[in-house]
Amino acid sequence: MRNPQLNQDGELQHLLSTEGLPARIMRDILDKAATFLDGSDQPEIRKVPLLHGKSVFNIFFENSTRTRTTFEIAAKRLSADVVNLNIGSSSTSKGETLLDTVDNLCAMHADMFVVRHSQSGAAHLIARHVAPEIHVINAGDGRHAHPTQALLDMFTIRHYKKEFHNLRVAIVGDVLHSRVARSQIHALTTLGVPEVRVIAPKTLLPTMVENLGVHVYHDMAKGLRDVDVILMLRLQNERMQGALLPSAQEYFKHYGLTEEKLSYAKPDAIVMHPGPMNRGVEIDSAVADGPNSVILSQVTFGIAVRMAVMSTLAGGR
Ligand code: CP
Repeated sequence: MRNPQLNQDGELQHLLSTEGLPARIMRDILDKAATFLDGSDQPEIRKVPLLHGKSVFNIFFENSTRTRTTFEIAAKRLSADVVNLNIGSSSTSKGETLLDTVDNLCAMHADMFVVRHSQSGAAHLIARHVAPEIHVINAGDGRHAHPTQALLDMFTIRHYKKEFHNLRVAIVGDVLHSRVARSQIHALTTLGVPEVRVIAPKTLLPTMVENLGVHVYHDMAKGLRDVDVILMLRLQNERMQGALLPSAQEYFKHYGLTEEKLSYAKPDAIVMHPGPMNRGVEIDSAVADGPNSVILSQVTFGIAVRMAVMSTLAGGR
């Protein structure tokens, strides 16, 4: 079956998932993102004319701080016209379907859609529906995928660790409900990370998670031993049906990343979190704000990575 993200020439047509995304395309996006930066951790990002005359529509049916804002900044840095559809005051609240909304935005000459939706598959649905010259980027769909988050995470790892082939990476927390974790696992394994671990209680892991190519741990001391990178996850309470945990305090005691638990990792391990963070639930402030944390660099790098994704889709070099 043809990869729905690629056109007939094998080029990126839509960005929907890191699953099935070829390593050459991931590496091209990371390399291109680096050209928008000056190599520092808090870089200046210059404005370039690569999307001049194009219209990017941000349609977010779920809340967002980082993704929506950095997509807007990225599109503006590429000189695109940016429209942020306010879903709360749009006609979807009067019963208009998702595809009717999209058709109307296409009639306003949209060139690219950035879509966040609570339903897994929403971005795929739009990608199948729109004309071939229109591009769709999945900005998070249900618990399925969040590909630009995973790509900015890969950029951050490469920035600090230089290579993927010698790393031990641990993903900690609510893997079961996390689109970020799924996209990270596919990206890490595609880029050649030899050991990807997941650390969580049994109730927060998908069944058969080992089939994704990860090693499973339920104990932080063992799972964090000698890792180079720690990817923390938020407890996704909004997606939990029933009580999967005794309490937030109990969770923090066993799985919250404290300085003591961080000491099991390599001394130069980096700590990452996609945000929003719940301090005192999955991560202690001493770690979130500590010397191993690169959490705010992830956000800044996200602008460059999203610029790289949009300019790749638009055919810009
Ligand atoms: N990481 C992430 O998706 O954050 P937002 O929900 O703020 O976009």
